[in-house]
This record gives sequence, structure tokens and C-alpha cells, in this order.
Amino acid sequence: MALSKISTSYSPSQTLKSKPGVPFHGYDAKRTGVSFEPHRRLRISCSVAPNEVQAPVAPAVPSDKASNRECYGVFCTTYDLRADEKTKSWKSLIKIAVSGAAGMISNHLLFKLASGEVFGPDQPIALQLLGSERSLQALEGVAMELEDSLYPLLREVGIGINPYEVFRDCEWALLIGAKPRGPGMERAGLLDINGQIFAEQGKALNAVASRNVKVIVVGNPCNTNALICLKNAPDIPAKNFHALTRLDENRAKCQLAMKAGVFYDKVSNMTIWGNHSTTQVPDFLNAKINGIPVKEVIKDTKWLETEFTERVQKRGGVLIQKWGRSSAASTAVSVVDAIRSLVTPTPEGDWFSSGVYTNGNPYGIAEDIVFSMPCRSKGDGDYELATDVIIDDFLRERIKKSEAELLAEKRCVAHLTGEGNAYCDLPEDTMLPGEQ
Ligand code: LMR
Repeated sequence: MALSKISTSYSPSQTLKSKPGVPFHGYDAKRTGVSFEPHRRLRISCSVAPNEVQAPVAPAVPSDKASNRECYGVFCTTYDLRADEKTKSWKSLIKIAVSGAAGMISNHLLFKLASGEVFGPDQPIALQLLGSERSLQALEGVAMELEDSLYPLLREVGIGINPYEVFRDCEWALLIGAKPRGPGMERAGLLDINGQIFAEQGKALNAVASRNVKVIVVGNPCNTNALICLKNAPDIPAKNFHALTRLDENRAKCQLAMKAGVFYDKVSNMTIWGNHSTTQVPDFLNAKINGIPVKEVIKDTKWLETEFTERVQKRGGVLIQKWGRSSAASTAVSVVDAIRSLVTPTPEGDWFSSGVYTNGNPYGIAEDIVFSMPCRSKGDGDYELATDVIIDDFLRERIKKSEAELLAEKRCVAHLTGEGNAYCDLPEDTMLPGEQ
């Protein structure tokens, strides 16, 4: 496994200057032997686990530059990944960028990605980790732990603080980093602060990521952050952007299973409609238990309409009360589920929830927002919206409320989506699942 580090400082205002053509140093150079650009002041460390050392090819950097980087003896030796790809019938390497990589969610997620449980045992990966200036030390610690884990499929790790470098050529971008709402902070303030981060990251993806990159936005408020991101990445299909509502789906399945006295794998067709907020709508009308509509299995309609719905909507808050911090492990698991749902075919008749762009949706939901809806995939990374759903008056009324909230959030970030002046009139009850 290789570790490359870029410690050039970065601030978004420098972006336009550094944007085009800035390579994410360390990757290609190490694999192919081409030299690093000598004029850039980089601190690079790279390594290969001893049991992965192949016949050495050209040195990673010219020998006269060796003193400019930190190497650890044999770990500076380069290897030929193509040999491994051939002999082990591996697929070709994919690059996965993760923001907020030094945080708690990533600390669970990265090791799942590296183990092969997400993309499969024949899929080598490169992890390109984005942190902030403040988290750079911690990020190095994360990279060291990844090294020490000797994951055979993890071929390269790079860390950096400039999204224009870290997102280069990535085929997946898992955008986790965001500021949590602090004491006394208005929601509009949170939308603005995080919105700026996601506007910048959208621009960076547009400039340097794979043209078919799949983006999963986890940082809250994730629906509107995803909208901001896609609006700033006009060359990437809007359909490729997701806001994570899979955690809400998983929570809803768990609650229904407990009430029905069945194991949670018996719950299917679980849609979360709307925003990842307390207006989200866990849909018990279309969900099934053992293939039977939930309402025929759980006859307690009052529980479904009130307790069940509220439990799912506010689960994040209860968890914060218990843990003293936001959900991390279960969020990471749900990111894994969300990716797997896109790279494996959806089981016949079932669907999964994801916050996706509403243009062309068949449910009458307002266009041009990111709204959680039921999706199906053939396993090619793409999805279609499920059309075999029923929507009654009760469900529609709730969906409308979440829609109104997202439209208000959108007005609030108009300055970040290129749609003019922002006007913030957020509904009173607009809250993240973790807010009380
Ligand atoms: C969650 O659903 O657990 C988080 O989104 C909570 C939050 O509000 O940060």
C-alpha cells in the first residue's frame, strides 16, 4: 500500500489559481515511475507493505529528489500493480475520495472500504482522503492505521487538504466533512457555512473528478448540500449526486421489525421520502414485511402514524443524547449499504431510498431539489425511480411538508447555486434528526 501526502496549504480562495491541471501527487508517479513536478514544495511519503513488494520498477522520484520526501527504507520501493491485476484477476483500480476523512464516520467507513466488503474482493482501490489544515495530523494517523492493516486491496492512500488535488480522477466521492451546528447557530447560518464547503467541492469535482463520478453527500444538511454540490458541477450528471437517507431507511426497518416481532431482514420496500430532517417521511404504506404490506401486519395504525414516524425522524437526536455525539458507526454502515445498492442489482420487487435530484420524477414532487425517493439499480452505479408505489392523502400531505422545507432551504442558498439572492424563510420546525 502506498501513502502519499500533500501538505501544501490550501484555502478555497486559492482555488481558481490552483484548479486546472494540478496533479494529486504520489499516485501516478509511484505506479509508473514518472517524476514529481520539481517546482512544487511537497512532502511525500510512500510505502509498500513488505509482502506486496514486486520487482522494482523505476524509482518513484529521481534519486536527487529523494531527500525532499520522507521514505521508510523498503517502503520507498515502487511496485507494479498491473502485475497483481493480471495474476489475481483483479479489476482495475478505482479511486475513492473521502472528505472529512479524519472524522468518526470515516474512521469506520475507510476500513470497510479497504477490506473489500463494499466493492468486492476483486476490486483494488485507492483512497484519496481530504481533511482540513487542522486535521492534517489526524489524517496522517488514519493513513498510518490503514498502512498497518495490510489490506491487500488497498493499493494507494493519499491525504491532502485541497479538493482540486484530492478529487482528481475519483470515481466515487463520499462527502462526509461538514461543520455541525454549534450552540446559538441559526439553521440559515449552518446552511451557509456548509453550503460554501459543498459549493467549493462541487467546483473541484467538476474540474478534476471522473466525468461519471458518483457522489454521496453525508455532511448535513445533506439534501441541500447535495443540491449545492451538483449545481456547482454542471459537467457531471445531476443524477450522479445522492444525499444519504439510507441511515433513515435502516432505522425505519429496525423499528418496524421490532413492532412486528420479526428480524429486520424481513422488511422490504422501505422508502424514506424527503429531507434528512425531522420532516422526513418513513413510508409504512408501501413497505412490506415478509412480502405483505406493513398495514396488514401491524394493525396499530395510530402507532404507525405517530410513534413509528417520530422515532425514525428523531432517532439521531436520541442517539446524540446517549452517546454525546452524532451517530458514526451506523452512518458508516449506511454509506456502505448505499454504495452496495448502486453496485449490485436491487433484489426483484424491492427498492432502496436515496436523496436524488427530482427532475423528471413521477410522483409530482417539485423539480430541482434533492429529495429522498425509492430507487432501483441494475448494479451499474446508476438507478431508476420506482414507479410501482401508491401515495394516499396522508402520505402526500407529509411529503408536501418535507418538500416545502427543502424549497425553503433552496431559497436560503440561492447565492450558492447561482440563482440570485438568498432569501431565508425556513419553517419553524426545520431541524436535523440530531437537533432537539
Ligand atoms: C443522524 O441522523 O444521526 C445525524 O444526521 C444527526 C445529526 O443531526 O447530525
